[in-house]
Amino acid sequence: MTDRINELIAEVEAFSSRAAAEIEEFRIRTLGKKGTVTNLMEEFKTVAPEMKRALGQRLNELKTKAQQKINDLKASAEAAGPRSESIGDATRPGAGSAEPVGSRHPISLVRNEIVAIFDRMGYTVADGPEIEDDHHVFTALNFAPEHPARDMQDTFFIEKNPDVLLRTHTSSIQVRVMEGGKPPIRVICPGRVFRNEAISYRAHCIFHQIEGLYIDEGVSFADLKQTLLHFAREMFGEDSKIRLRPSYFPFTEPSAEMDVSCNLCGGKGCPVCKGTGWLEIMGCGMVDPNVLENCGIDSKKYTGFAFGMGVERIAMLKFGVGDLRLDFENDVRFLKQFASES
Ligand code: DAH
Repeated sequence: MTDRINELIAEVEAFSSRAAAEIEEFRIRTLGKKGTVTNLMEEFKTVAPEMKRALGQRLNELKTKAQQKINDLKASAEAAGPRSESIGDATRPGAGSAEPVGSRHPISLVRNEIVAIFDRMGYTVADGPEIEDDHHVFTALNFAPEHPARDMQDTFFIEKNPDVLLRTHTSSIQVRVMEGGKPPIRVICPGRVFRNEAISYRAHCIFHQIEGLYIDEGVSFADLKQTLLHFAREMFGEDSKIRLRPSYFPFTEPSAEMDVSCNLCGGKGCPVCKGTGWLEIMGCGMVDPNVLENCGIDSKKYTGFAFGMGVERIAMLKFGVGDLRLDFENDVRFLKQFASES
């Protein structure tokens, strides 16, 4: 019997709970009518008289300890409040401050803004694969077979099959759109592109472009100019001016490079525009009739324009980011600075 009393004392000492139901269950199991302590009290009546003194003292100790333990646990469960056994008070604010709000990546912000501007002009968004073939990236776009852009130096090819490559520009999407549909076509094509470039503050092997394409009967260079002027005003401010400089791309004829007046110095000249007052932001031109024919569009009936711009470059101008490697590092100290932009 001594052993059983000792075991029960140890059990009472070890027990702990803040749940009212568990404490009550413990009370019934020990001090209840058929509880372990109560049973021992009954048994005690039959113990030989010479043993009674020592055992009685120990048994009383057990009973007092059990009662004391139950009282203490009940008191602390009540002090902790009625809901403490489960999830706590769900209406109380959480520990610490509220969840921190995330921010959009500057590249996403700029891309979304450009897409929204063209969306308001009736352009829809088109998508295409990043892993492409020679036809969509070069051949259909009128690149001569010996054109340097086809070189390993610029393009990532899959070694085993040179017809599989990572697209070097989003102009491949305009080929897919023309092949897949009939004019009128008015699309904007954002996407990631890849070039075999050494990484520096102004170049990366992965970057983002947005391609635009408009094909219909009677589309002229004047339409292109007015569309791009409207875009520049929406993107960089109402006072923005544009200028078009003659250029060359295999897929447009005539081709041009577009500059926007520097929105930092208002065209007076500053370090960002290198004193010229102008910033180069995109290539553009009238879609070459060869390209229309390559994509199954009647070049006698239809004309159109295309343009392509680099998203990192525009983000650089808009947010004053001086090193485009920051766009790829995902350092929260950089990303947090865009938290107030929508
Ligand atoms: N694809 C060209 C590039 O990667 C950009 C470009 C220039 C796209 C002129 C066009 C365009 O659609 O008309 O540099």
